[in-house]
Amino acid sequence: MTPSTSVRFDFTGKSAIVTGASGGIGAEVVRLLHAAGAHLVLIDLNPEALDSLAAELGGERVSLVPGDASAQGTIDAAVAAAVAASGAVDLLLPVAGIYPRSTVEETSDELWDRVQRINLAGVFKLIRASIPHFAAGSAVVNFASVAGHRGSQLHAHYAASKAGVIALTRSLAHELGPAGVRVNAVSPGTINTGMVKDLVSDRGDLMMAQTPLQRFGEPGEVASAAVFLASDAASFITGETLHVNGGLFMAG
Ligand SMILES: NC(=O)c1ccc[n+]([C@@H]2O[C@H](COP(=O)([O-])OP(=O)(O)OC[C@H]3O[C@@H](n4cnc5c(N)ncnc54)[C@H](O)[C@@H]3O)[C@@H](O)[C@H]2O)c1
Repeated sequence: MTPSTSVRFDFTGKSAIVTGASGGIGAEVVRLLHAAGAHLVLIDLNPEALDSLAAELGGERVSLVPGDASAQGTIDAAVAAAVAASGAVDLLLPVAGIYPRSTVEETSDELWDRVQRINLAGVFKLIRASIPHFAAGSAVVNFASVAGHRGSQLHAHYAASKAGVIALTRSLAHELGPAGVRVNAVSPGTINTGMVKDLVSDRGDLMMAQTPLQRFGEPGEVASAAVFLASDAASFITGETLHVNGGLFMAG
């Protein structure tokens, strides 16, 4: 039994927009939210993977919006689908991210801009478009990274974007709190997905040695933390970044 299957929440009647929905962590978030009754609005660049995820969910309570999560057209379509499903944007989980590898010296303006656009500006734009449709009790869970706290060798663009996600999370918690909307983040360490294949083969031993639990995480272990933050079980938690990294980074 994975940790995610033992967690039980009730999101019946709520809509949830998830970006990067067919990725390693995104698909686990989707499975948990769907099992707990939510209507899922799924964004990903990969339409075939979205189709197969929707088929796995039985096609019920799912709207697919294939496309770039940082593009305004995709964002507007997703927000409209969420509002059509529940009358509001109840839950927002912008999971999509990219993790290219390059030294700062090798990083072109185009690569820098692409990483910031997908990992940070896309999150900002989706939240901004959702604000008029949030209801009291709506919740945003952003996806940061241990890189946003520690920095990351060969991924400075990524680390900078994730530090931005953490600051955006706190700032939005201030701004949206009075309306009863909570904004939190999870900050994963090394999680077994396609994203970190190269990292694990280059520096996996070092990462493992620095991790008190002495293993990498599974996508379901990040998803269960994210779904907790989205749920009423976290009703007095906002502006928080929850580390999900086996102890790799302990905030002082
Ligand atoms: N895996 C890890 O070790 C790890 C660690 C820290 C943080 N994270 C973060 O967790 C999140 C999920 O990572 P993952 O490991 O599941 O990665 P993944 O590569 O398995 O999945 C990412 C998904 O995002 C989609 N995507 C990429 N760009 C997109 C765009 N512009 N529009 C729409 N979809 C897009 C991809 O198609 C893919 O399905 C990311 O934000 C990542 O930065 C992951």
